[in-house]
Amino acid sequence: MIGVYDSGVGGLSVWKELKALMPGEDYTYFSDAAFCPYGPKDPSVIIERADEIARMLIGRGAEMIVVACNTATAAAIGHLRATFDIPFIGMEPAIKPAALHSESGVVGVLATAGTLKGRLYLDTLAKFAADVTVIEQVGTGLVEAVERCDFDSPQVTALLHKYIDPMIDAGADHIVLGCTHYPFLSETIASIAGPDVTIVNPAPAVARRACDVLSHLRPVRYNGSGSTEFLSSGSTAPLLQLASRL
Ligand code: DGL
Repeated sequence: MIGVYDSGVGGLSVWKELKALMPGEDYTYFSDAAFCPYGPKDPSVIIERADEIARMLIGRGAEMIVVACNTATAAAIGHLRATFDIPFIGMEPAIKPAALHSESGVVGVLATAGTLKGRLYLDTLAKFAADVTVIEQVGTGLVEAVERCDFDSPQVTALLHKYIDPMIDAGADHIVLGCTHYPFLSETIASIAGPDVTIVNPAPAVARRACDVLSHLRPVRYNGSGSTEFLSSGSTAPLLQLASRL
C-alpha cells in the first residue's frame, strides 16, 4: 500500500496524479484535518504530526509514503527519512521549471508561510531562480476555503485577486502553486491571471518520482483498479466530497 497524507484535502491533488499513473496500486489517504492548517504552525508541531502519521501508515502496511503537502515536506521530510526505513516522497518546490521557462523573468509563488520559510524552498530559490524576479505571496485563507469546498465564491475570487493581481502587474508569466490545496483553485486563478500565464502544479512530477522510486522496490501495478482508503483525524465530509468528485 502507498500512504499519502496532507493537512487536509489538498493532497488529493497529488493522489489523483498517483492514481492516474498507477491505477492498480492500493492507497491509504490520511487527512490531518484536526490540525489543519499547517501553514502557520511551528515546524516542531508538524514534525510531531508527521512522526505519528508515518507510524500509523506504516502500521497499516505502507511501503512508501507520499508527503502530499509542501509545508509538511519543508518541516518534516528530513526527520521522516532519518527515522523510518521506507522511502518518503516529498513535494518539490516548482520554482525551478517556472524560472527556467519564464520569458518575462518574473515568476509568482503562492504558498504557505511555512513553505516559504523552509530550507528546501530557499535552497531551490538560490540555486535555480537567481536570475529571475520572484514575487512570493502567502495564500492566507485559501487552505480553509478549499477545506470548505469553496473554489470560486465571490469571497475566494476577491482573495485570489488580492494575491494574483500584483504578480500580473509586475509581469509574471508563471505562477507556482506551492501548496497542494491550490490546484483546486487553479481554474479561478487562471481566469484571474489570463491566458498568457502558465500555472505550475508540481503534482504530476511528484507522482512520476513516486512511481520511479516504487519501481526500484518492486514491480509497479500499472493496470487494474486498486483501492483507496480515506482516513481523517477530523471531519471526513470534505474529504469524501472531493474524493468522489475526482
Ligand atoms: N496542502 C498543504 C501544503 O501543501 C497545506 C498546508 C496547510 O495546511 O496550511 O502546504
